[in-house]
Amino acid sequence: MTESVIETSGLVKDHVSNFLRKRFRALDGLTLSVPRGEAFGLLGPNGAGKTTTLKLLLGLLKPTAGTCQVLGHKAGDRKALSRIGFLPENPYFYSYLTAGEFLDFFGRLFNLPGRERKERSRQLLEMVSLSEAADRPIRKFSKGMLQRLGLAQCLINDPELVFLDEPNSGLDPIGRRDMRHIVLKLKDEGKTIFLNSHLLPDVNELCDRIVILHRGKCVAEARVQEISRGGNYRDLEEYFLESIKAAEEDFQARSHPLSAST
Ligand SMILES: Nc1ncnc2c1ncn2[C@@H]1O[C@H](COP(=O)(O)OP(=O)(O)OP(=O)(O)O)[C@@H](O)[C@H]1O
Ligand SMILES: [Mg+2]
Repeated sequence: MTESVIETSGLVKDHVSNFLRKRFRALDGLTLSVPRGEAFGLLGPNGAGKTTTLKLLLGLLKPTAGTCQVLGHKAGDRKALSRIGFLPENPYFYSYLTAGEFLDFFGRLFNLPGRERKERSRQLLEMVSLSEAADRPIRKFSKGMLQRLGLAQCLINDPELVFLDEPNSGLDPIGRRDMRHIVLKLKDEGKTIFLNSHLLPDVNELCDRIVILHRGKCVAEARVQEISRGGNYRDLEEYFLESIKAAEEDFQARSHPLSAST
């Protein structure tokens, strides 16, 4: 049996507002298993709970209930984090560093020796087409250049599990294509990919399997190749839209049972 690199069981996250301490359930009982080497896509409308899930898996948020294990450790354990790469939704950059210095800084955090840091930074900058900008301060980078640098940073430790939260955000068509090629290369190398994305054609090309979240709950799960083969859906987009429509109708019916029955 293939080893699972991500395992969650009944994962719940409530956010509590500062005002009136009101609770909001962002994630509602997610049970998930991602095997080694899989490219997994977590989909869902804005606010569905995708980034919340990712933060729980990285140990950046503590679950309200349920469990999550990553690479055989409790989420957030240092032993697992050293083997993980993470491209956040809104990456933060030290703007006065150059791109090369920035990657070198992250290489130091992972205790890479000097020569290896230099070589790896060079390779990664080339991979994301930023070699020419290696010595420019990051504050002069465009949005898409920052996103490319974020991707390079998340691969500095040659991670075996890569979390990508909206990696295509802000990229031009060339950047989007490059990003797809990079992710496919990572997949070929046997790495496990956990991708949050709204760009369904990219998800279709990259992911083996997807889960759709709606209001914090898993409402659909499918192997991407089987979606159109089954004959019920034209493509992933139709599957996504139909799943969300059915889930929202179900939610409304449960929230207002009287109006649904009249
Ligand atoms: N720190 C927080 N405090 C309170 N509520 C939060 C917090 N972070 C997220 N939420 C709420 O939790 C829900 C899920 O947010 P999350 O960021 O996980 O959504 P998402 O699926 O990643 O959406 P998007 O596609 O827009 O990135 C949203 O309703 C959001 O408002
Ligand atoms: Mg998000």
